[in-house]
Amino acid sequence: MDKTIEKIVSLCKRRGFVFQSSDIYGGFSAVYDYGPLGIELKNNISQLWWKEMTQSHENIVGLDSGILMHPKIWEASGHVGAFNDPLVDCKQCKARYRADEFSEDYSTINWNDTKCPKCGSTGDLTEPRQFNLMFKTHVGPVEDSGEEAFLRPETAQGIYVNYQLVQGAMRMKVPFGIAQIGKAFRNEIIARNFIFRTREFEQMEMQYFVKPGTDDTILQEWKQKRFNFYIEKLGIKESNLRFHEHGDGELAHYAKEAWDIEYQFPFGWSEIEGIHNRTDFDLKRHEEFSGKNLSYFDQPNNDRFLPYIIETSAGLNRNLLTVLADAYWEDEKNNRIVMKLHPKIAPIKAVICPLLKKDGLPEKAREIVNLLKPHFKVLYDQQGSIGKRYYRQDEAGTPFGITVDHQSIEDNTVTLRDRDTMNQERISIHEIVKILDNSINNDTIN
Ligand code: GAP
Repeated sequence: MDKTIEKIVSLCKRRGFVFQSSDIYGGFSAVYDYGPLGIELKNNISQLWWKEMTQSHENIVGLDSGILMHPKIWEASGHVGAFNDPLVDCKQCKARYRADEFSEDYSTINWNDTKCPKCGSTGDLTEPRQFNLMFKTHVGPVEDSGEEAFLRPETAQGIYVNYQLVQGAMRMKVPFGIAQIGKAFRNEIIARNFIFRTREFEQMEMQYFVKPGTDDTILQEWKQKRFNFYIEKLGIKESNLRFHEHGDGELAHYAKEAWDIEYQFPFGWSEIEGIHNRTDFDLKRHEEFSGKNLSYFDQPNNDRFLPYIIETSAGLNRNLLTVLADAYWEDEKNNRIVMKLHPKIAPIKAVICPLLKKDGLPEKAREIVNLLKPHFKVLYDQQGSIGKRYYRQDEAGTPFGITVDHQSIEDNTVTLRDRDTMNQERISIHEIVKILDNSINNDTIN
C-alpha cells in the first residue's frame, strides 16, 4: 500500500475535511479551510486535549487571550529580535529559499557559484538576509500614525502576561498550569506538506509554572504524559511516534532543554509537538520590559521566586494531519479506502440508511436518527446503493452503519455494520444507544 500525502489531500477535499483557502480565486498559499468533517474532527481533538489538561489536572486552568497584544510583548519575548529565517532570493526567477535548505551550515556557501534549484541559473542568488516571521499590522484608523502591532506567532505569551492575574483569581499554588487553544500566525517562507506548515494555524499550549530546581524532573513527566496522549487518547500507532531532542544548534532562544514528539508522516518524521524548559526566560524579560514584579510568593515556605516554565506546545492542525495519516487505509481486498478513525474522534458516529426509499423504511430510519441525535452526531442517507453509501462513509471515517429493512418494521431490529471488519449483526433498536455509547465514550482508546 502506498500512503502518500497527495492521496490524503485528495480524500480531504472529496469528503469535506480540508479545502484550499480561497479556492474559487485559484487558492491562497499556505492557508486552509476546514470543511464540515474537518471542523468536527478538529473540535473532537481539541476537546480531548482540553479535557486532558483542565479536567484531568486539578491544578491546570484555561485562558483565552487576544491575538493582538501590546507590541512590547514581542520585544520582550525575543520574537522581534530573534524570530528570523535566513533567506536567499534568485534575482533571475524571483524564487525564494531558506538558506539552510542548501546546507545546515550555510555560512560556508559561496552563493555566486550556487545554482538556483528552480531556474538553474548560476550567480543570481543573493547573500542570505534575515526575514522576520511575524505578521505586522496597524492598530487605529491611519496606517502611518497608528501603532504597529503583530499577529501572535505563539499563544504562549498571552499566558505569561496574564499569569499573575490567573494565579491570584484562582488562588493557584506552584506547580500549576495554564492551558490555551488559539490561532497563531507565522509568515512561513517554505509552507508545504498540506496543513503541516501553514501561515495561519492553531496551537494547543500549556504553560506549567514550577519552582526552580524541580524543572528537570517535571519536564520528564510532561514528556511522557504528552507522548501517551497520542497513543491513548488519539489512537495513534506507537510505532509511528518518537522523541527527538534538540541539540545546541536547534534550541530556540528561550529554551534550556527541548524535545519534539515526531510522527512518521508519508513525507518523513516531523515534529507535531514541542516540550520545552523555558526556565524563567520569559517572565524575567517581561519584568524587564514592563517594569512589573512578576515573582510568586510561596506562603507556606515564606519564599519568593520567579517560576520556571515547562511548556507543552502542540499544533492542532498537525494533530489533525497526524490522525488522518495514521487512519488512512487502502483496503485492497474490498477495493475501498477507509479512514480508521477511533469512534471517539470520528466526525460522524453512524450513518442511518433505509434499504429502500419506500414501504415505510425512510420513516423508520428517521425514528432512529431522532433516537440517536441527542447523543451523537449521525447522518441520514438514502442516496444510491447501500454499498455506495457505506463506502462513502468508510472514507469519512464513520465507524457504524445502521440499515433499516423490512424486518425492522416487523421486529424493531436493524443491521449494525462495523466500518473496519464490514461485519454486520442484527441488533434491537432499543440497544443502539448503549452499543454506540460503549465504543465511543470509552475513556481510553487502546
Ligand atoms: N510556544 C512554543 C512554540 O510555538 P514551536 O515549536 O515553534 O514552539 C509549537 O511550535 C508547535 O506549533 C509545533 O510543534 C507545531 O505543531 C505547531 N506549529 C508551529 N508552526 C506551525 C506552522 N507554521 N503551521 C502549523 N503548525 C505549526
